[in-house]
Amino acid sequence: MILQMTDICKDYPMGKTMNPVLKHISLTVEKGDYLAIMGPSGSGKTTLMNLIGCLDVPTSGTYLLGDVDIGKCSSRQLSDIRNRDIGFVFQSFHLLPKMTALDNVALPLLYAGVSKAERKERAREALETVGLGDRADFRPDQLSGGQSQRVAIARAIVNHPRLLLADEPTGALDSASGAQVMDLFERLHVDGSTIIVITHDRGVAERAQMIRYIKDGILTGGDDGE
Ligand SMILES: Nc1ncnc2c1ncn2[C@@H]1O[C@H](COP(=O)(O)OP(=O)(O)OP(=O)(O)O)[C@@H](O)[C@H]1O
Ligand SMILES: [Mg+2]
Repeated sequence: MILQMTDICKDYPMGKTMNPVLKHISLTVEKGDYLAIMGPSGSGKTTLMNLIGCLDVPTSGTYLLGDVDIGKCSSRQLSDIRNRDIGFVFQSFHLLPKMTALDNVALPLLYAGVSKAERKERAREALETVGLGDRADFRPDQLSGGQSQRVAIARAIVNHPRLLLADEPTGALDSASGAQVMDLFERLHVDGSTIIVITHDRGVAERAQMIRYIKDGILTGGDDGE
């Protein structure tokens, strides 16, 4: 088991009351799963991704990532878990503009305390995995959108994370580059990666092995309770 959420709720303050955004969500993800979570704008997708990615903590419920109870972790422990166990891919790439593709990809390894020579070697390998070995020295403004997203994916996998988490990974891309990114996820899945893609795009969701739906903060479509 990679992760297990049980009866997770997330409320945000709204004036003097609390606004329930995620309602009693239960979700289990096994090693090697490729799951899409699909839902309309405002349904709670990014809120859920932030919880899964340990960027935020739930109001109530339990979240186990591997055998770690996330609710019991300090913020320092959470940041270690994010760096070590989770690879993030965002709609808008989040690359550092002044760094080359290679240095962007190597960044998580720097935080993990890996030596310079090994950082370069592993970043180069990850860039080759996403088909961009020849773009190592390019800066983000010298790359297309699709190439930028593939660099971001290389950065997400360079640490061999337990879980690859993507929020609208094709949202900023034309359909051909989007298809390339989805081909890449499929290849990573075949090679054993565990992937969660969050999207409102049915075409993207249908590339996954299974789809769960979220609407008004309620998750449906799985075996665990719904
Ligand atoms: N920090 C916050 N404080 C208060 N309310 C929030 C906060 N973040 C999100 N919300 C509310 O939670 C609900 C879900 O937001 P969320 O960003 O998770 O939606 P989403 O499904 O990702 O939408 P989109 O497809 O537009 O990205 C929205 O009604 C939003 O207003
Ligand atoms: Mg969102």
